Amino acid sequence: MLSQQENEYLTHTNRGTPMGELFRRYWQPFLLSDELPDNDGAPVRVRLLGEDLIAFRDSDGRVGLVAESCPHRGASLFFAINQERGLMCIYHGWKYDVDGNCVDMPSDMPGSAFKEKVHLTSYPTIESARVIWTYMGPADKQPPPPNYYMNMLPEENVIAQRTPIYCNYLQSMEGNLDSTHLGTLHMYYDNLKPADLEYDKPGHPTPRFSQYITGTEKYARIDVQDTDYGYRLIAVRKTPNGNQHVRINCLALPIMSWIAAPRGLGSIFTQLPIDDYNCMRIGWRCSPDRPFSDQERTSAASQSMMMDPNNPKLRLKRLDNDYLQDRAAQKSKHPPGIWPGAEQDYCVTETMGPIYDRTKEHLYHGDAAIVRLRQMLGKASRDLQEGIEPPGVNGEIAYHKIRSEDIVIGPDDDPWLVAADAGESATRGQRLR
Ligand code: FES
Ligand SMILES: [Fe+2]
Repeated sequence: MLSQQENEYLTHTNRGTPMGELFRRYWQPFLLSDELPDNDGAPVRVRLLGEDLIAFRDSDGRVGLVAESCPHRGASLFFAINQERGLMCIYHGWKYDVDGNCVDMPSDMPGSAFKEKVHLTSYPTIESARVIWTYMGPADKQPPPPNYYMNMLPEENVIAQRTPIYCNYLQSMEGNLDSTHLGTLHMYYDNLKPADLEYDKPGHPTPRFSQYITGTEKYARIDVQDTDYGYRLIAVRKTPNGNQHVRINCLALPIMSWIAAPRGLGSIFTQLPIDDYNCMRIGWRCSPDRPFSDQERTSAASQSMMMDPNNPKLRLKRLDNDYLQDRAAQKSKHPPGIWPGAEQDYCVTETMGPIYDRTKEHLYHGDAAIVRLRQMLGKASRDLQEGIEPPGVNGEIAYHKIRSEDIVIGPDDDPWLVAADAGESATRGQRLR
């Protein structure tokens, strides 16, 4: 449970709020590169951390991210003409380049140099891992470019997706770092039938065996292992042969998470606030050894981009249509009666309300990683207020080594040592019992 004051502290991210300032100290992904396909193509509206912005790709292919409001008298630059290395406002023709310089003011007095005094707010961008990233913090504090696992792979080996979520970012993040919902929210009744039991031995199991364990063993022992980048959430379930089924999800502050799936097929997600009542999930799947096939890309897109055909800006399954819940499927296929898996998560996090009132919650042992997330976000933002730099912004953390894991280990093996390659720091921390 949080006090109302602490709940507001952690959930508000506009400029000037402590959390908003923390988020602005990191590179944040905000748009797929494919969403700005063409030089001089149509600009795109972007709302990030409560700021209304416009993204555009100029004649040279450079991506600009600028304030939507024209600094002259505030007309929206979404309607601007994007050509010849800049956005030209359709009201009086003032024109801006990707760095926010006013490069033309055709309606000004001949000989005037007024345009040199005008600057449009703009943020630097980087394209990496099929996504456009921006940095919205102080210019002299800009960190090195993102170097997560997906940033290290060739683009062909990466699938990136972007989805709107209609609630505060923290609810969505807490859902990522909550291992005990697997046995209910994401369980399929078919998975309760024993299968692939030959994988009940140390090593990497099949997806089917992992689903059987997470579906049947509702209780998981949860440990949180502090690291230099955040923490590792370690969920251990007993197997029929007395082995330990271990799932490790990771958090890199402030909002990057690694979610385990069998055989290295986990995902990496971030949940960036659009504003205090909405966020967006940008997720990556990585294939270490080979490019994804066209078929794999199409199938990933068909599951993730379940947008409303009548309004492609909205998700198809959402609160105002009860997530198209199927009450018969709820009793015959899976408890939520909602499909696919991501939509199951959206339902439970969005129905808490735009910002959940955490003065009303009742946390139990399974929420240990959620408590730790709040503690770490609070500490990092309070430290920043006192001039202590947040973790990782100086390039000292080997983010590219961070991995989630889904594995079976022996009865006496130590789950804390599984896949701890992301640095020796992964052996620190307190075990929760
Ligand atoms: S409002 Fe944009 S040029 Fe005047
Ligand atoms: Fe989930």
